[in-house]
Amino acid sequence: MATVLAIETSCDETAVAIVNNRNICSSVVTSQITLHRVYGGVVPEMASREHLLTINPCIEQAFLESKLNWSDIDGVAATVAPGLVGALMIGSTAAKTLAILYDKPFIGVHHLEGHIYATYLSDPTWEPPFLCLLVSGGHTSLIYVKNCGVYEQLGSTRDDAAGEAFDKVARLLNLEYPGGPIIDRLAKTGNPKRFILPEGKVSLPEGGYHRYDSSFSGLKTAVLRLVEQLKKEGQEPLPVADLAASFQDTVARSLTKKTIACALDYGIKKIAIGGGVAANSGLRQHLQEAAKEHDLIVHFPPLKLCTDNAAMIGCAATDHLQRGHISALSLGVSSRLNI
Ligand code: KG4
Ligand code: ZN
Repeated sequence: MATVLAIETSCDETAVAIVNNRNICSSVVTSQITLHRVYGGVVPEMASREHLLTINPCIEQAFLESKLNWSDIDGVAATVAPGLVGALMIGSTAAKTLAILYDKPFIGVHHLEGHIYATYLSDPTWEPPFLCLLVSGGHTSLIYVKNCGVYEQLGSTRDDAAGEAFDKVARLLNLEYPGGPIIDRLAKTGNPKRFILPEGKVSLPEGGYHRYDSSFSGLKTAVLRLVEQLKKEGQEPLPVADLAASFQDTVARSLTKKTIACALDYGIKKIAIGGGVAANSGLRQHLQEAAKEHDLIVHFPPLKLCTDNAAMIGCAATDHLQRGHISALSLGVSSRLNI
């Protein structure tokens, strides 16, 4: 067993947790969303400055909540990639400093690996192999988890991430940032069949379409054209609930189709979901129905573990530590890095 203090600052959440293998001793998440909302998205420079202000109180809070102290800690972990470089640097520098100060090993963790480990936190009996669909503001990935620490990325996005598509379409509809939860709420009262929108397809050079990769930019443009046309026809106020429902249904169907095809092609029986878009009611419903139809198990961790948090980073780090994988203090951060 290992206990790790973990820090996650890859985007706009300052998060610190203390984790003992698959058990969360404390988990503190401070969101910067109100700060960025007025700009319609995350402003990287502001995110870094805010992390700097919040990180120490979050560390103190994590110790307070866990009732542990430094003598209980076996290692210090931080997300090192991918993410906003300035933001990642705050968390990883804090973690390295604490590692030196308290003479503990430092463990650099890949953010997507953290999202995968959130599944083990929400269901400690869960084991590989499984397929992980990660859908957030920054990622749309289908990762085959063959074993702990053994991954194959089978699908990704060619342009916008799923959450990014929700946020951009929300902006087109004059809704606030982040748009995903608002579209989800509006979609509940709208007609998903009113507007037929194109499911993004990724062409292959040899002809046909990629079975697991996603593309959302065409769908976003289709919503833009539709909004322009509706305005030209004088349909204002816009039928936002029907637009939201039609858009959400298209994304949910597309992600479900790709996930199920991937699981069936590779003979994978279990599917786990992560990232903020995992909260989406349309996606949950489509995936659950399709999984049932094909006799597959699908697991949705609770939302607080789907969205960015440090507990998932800590869980991954305990596994690394127990396998003797510790990082050099010279390990840098990176905005892009394959898992
Ligand atoms: O995982 P997350 O908290 O942060 C990262 O991007 O890593 O995900 C945030 C994204 C945003 O794009 C937000 O609009 C989207 O998740 N989101 C949703 C819902 N809740 C959050 N998208 C669709 N439906 C939701 N209910
Ligand atoms: Zn994330």
